Amino acid sequence: MSKKKMLYDGKAKTIFEGPTPDTVIQYFKDDATANNAEKHAIIDGKGVLNNSISDFLMRRIQEIGIPTHYIKKINMREQLVKKVEIIPVEFVVRNIAAGSIVKRLGLKEGEVFKNPLIEYYLKRDDLGDPFINEDHIINFKWGTREELEEMQEYGLRINDFLRGLFLGVGLKLVDFKIEFGRHFSDEHDGVLLLADEISPDNCRLWDIKTNNKYDKDLFRQELGGLKEAYQEVAERLKILPEKKKYSSFKTEIVK
Ligand code: TMP
Repeated sequence: MSKKKMLYDGKAKTIFEGPTPDTVIQYFKDDATANNAEKHAIIDGKGVLNNSISDFLMRRIQEIGIPTHYIKKINMREQLVKKVEIIPVEFVVRNIAAGSIVKRLGLKEGEVFKNPLIEYYLKRDDLGDPFINEDHIINFKWGTREELEEMQEYGLRINDFLRGLFLGVGLKLVDFKIEFGRHFSDEHDGVLLLADEISPDNCRLWDIKTNNKYDKDLFRQELGGLKEAYQEVAERLKILPEKKKYSSFKTEIVK
């Protein structure tokens, strides 16, 4: 990796300056965090797998006409993407009850929702990413009404598309979190793009027959086998040759 200026160091990714002012490079790290970074571990090879899985899913989503920040995968750990001003809202879509909604509303894990549920959380680690609603987004100007409507339309289309895609490889898309940003360039003034990543770090994926988990809950719940599970997701999606081992991929971050 060449020496690039670091713009932002996140929990699972580092953002570096790109080759042009309207691009950045996303570097996928091996760090796994949970409970607002109270739990932290390095899982050798996770970044390589998430880079490949997110690269694949972003390209597929772009192909169905949803604008994304994605430009290209550069190497095992890096993607070139359009630079965006991130909208500070975690946009969650749920199809099946799991995780925080089970605790918050006293639901039974595994209950299938009649319709997909959209939820919003404010991206504020210091506040523990609190649950918010549409009025908060508009009133506090985290997004405009037009952006909110676009995010809802894109979020539901992404959900429909990904549900089908994962079902085709024997996985249920339980829920997922996405982020959007505004891209500014000579041609565009604040166009809304799907940004960040889509990987088993921010989806829940259960096997259709066994309900076994193939996502970050394996780490959150200390069940183990996270890397093997992510590798299987990549294999089922035919992104990786089967049983290719990723333990030897190590890369240094240049700060
Ligand atoms: P939750 O059930 O913990 O609210 O999570 C809902 C979905 O959002 C789940 O697929 C995991 C994902 N998620 C993230 O990607 N990042 C986060 O910080 C949180 C809280 C959830």
